[in-house]
Amino acid sequence: MNQANIGVVGLAVMGSNLARNLASREGNRVAVYNRSEGRTKELLDEHPEANFIASYSYEDFAASIAKPRTAIIMVQAGAATDAVIDSLVKVFEPGDVIIDGGNALFTDTIRREKAVRETGINFVGSGISGGEEGALHGPSIMPGGSAEAWEVIRPILESIAARADDGTPCVTHIGTDGAGHFVKMIHNGIEYADMQLIAEGYDLIRNATSQTPAEIADIFAEWNKGELDSYLIEITAEVLRQVDAETGKPLVDVILDAAGAKGTGSWTVKSGLDTGVPISGIAQAVFARSLSSSLSQRKVAQRLGKQVVEGLPAGADFIEDVRKALYASKIVAYSQGFDVIRIGAKDHEWDINLSEVARIWRAGCIIRAVFLNRITDAYKQDPELELLISAPYFADAIADSELSLRRVVAAASLAGVAVPAFSASLSYLDAIRAERLPAALVQGQRDFFGAHTYKRIDKEGTFHTEWSEDRSETRVD
Ligand code: 6PG
Repeated sequence: MNQANIGVVGLAVMGSNLARNLASREGNRVAVYNRSEGRTKELLDEHPEANFIASYSYEDFAASIAKPRTAIIMVQAGAATDAVIDSLVKVFEPGDVIIDGGNALFTDTIRREKAVRETGINFVGSGISGGEEGALHGPSIMPGGSAEAWEVIRPILESIAARADDGTPCVTHIGTDGAGHFVKMIHNGIEYADMQLIAEGYDLIRNATSQTPAEIADIFAEWNKGELDSYLIEITAEVLRQVDAETGKPLVDVILDAAGAKGTGSWTVKSGLDTGVPISGIAQAVFARSLSSSLSQRKVAQRLGKQVVEGLPAGADFIEDVRKALYASKIVAYSQGFDVIRIGAKDHEWDINLSEVARIWRAGCIIRAVFLNRITDAYKQDPELELLISAPYFADAIADSELSLRRVVAAASLAGVAVPAFSASLSYLDAIRAERLPAALVQGQRDFFGAHTYKRIDKEGTFHTEWSEDRSETRVD
């Protein structure tokens, strides 16, 4: 092949790993371009086996790819992505496809897709999950864009995607314009929640027992054999086992406890706010990272001291409660995440198949977990499922772990250990199942100070009470 069938722009770790993954699949020849020539040359030197076609200008890059051309952009989300798109649009032709594989904000993708479509070139915003290893060996891929573009890129993306246990590639056409990046954003929000829940579980066990991180690693490794089986639990055990070469201490004790974030978690929370979907577990996970990073405030607050009722129970029963609490809360986080996809899809008129979303998250991505098989089945059985936790498997799982979650949140509260994501998950479960909520009082308050009106349970219409006058009620519509 003298010409490439696919190009990659942006050769930092994710881009070069994806390019190598592409090159390793039969039938692919990969064109590469990077803004700094040095990086391109380095990649060629390091990986002669990939047989890359390197270019040092966008014109040459376009000439090196067979028509209709397909190129994947792997640069930083934001201005860098816009700059590369502008350059590619100048040298590409109608019918070609530009894929943005970065973590773009989905509204940017909607804007870009619209602008690029006017040139006749197809633009696909695609979520790619799995980190550096996933990019190299098989990520989970979430492309948006037009159905026509999907047909062009499908064989290439299927060739590099992770394969689930049943052999199917973890890629599907999510929906038009920004749908792929929207779903990737929610994936990351769930990732935040999952990580925070695991961290809270670890913290509880550490506080309750005298076990070392390495011993707690064994607990997580054991948990990974059951219903919690997932990539994040697996790597948690590895992180906890790591010893710092310099001090000989567990590395987790040496790492500064201030969690970073690049933005996709808070974008997810904003989407929850915009769509009115209560993704409280994800929100608490995002805020937990912000709180951890408020180092000087934390110092000030530590001086306040605190009062506790009693220490955490230290026995095996409590550890089993933590495991079950983690599972229940994890189900809540995924249920909330799928809910915001469902409502977001309606708002943006995307035809998103939730069963397919769960299916392509079963391998390759950061939140891959055995229980995604159950989510796949639940939405396959009922594509209109309103609430994931109401599907029989999940309803049973919650019923089986509810008391554990209550005991864990109560014990943490009495002992003064923060469990924001566990508590938010429990409160969500209690509120969403409550027959009656104190929202009625909130409506009364709103009507009192602002004549915001309310509805009644016993008759149609909208009402207002003259609170300060004669307290008479009038129907206002
Ligand atoms: C993935 C990850 C990846 C990245 C996150 C981390 O799916 O491969 O989600 O996209 O690791 O953006 O984000 P934070 O730096 O915000 O934790």
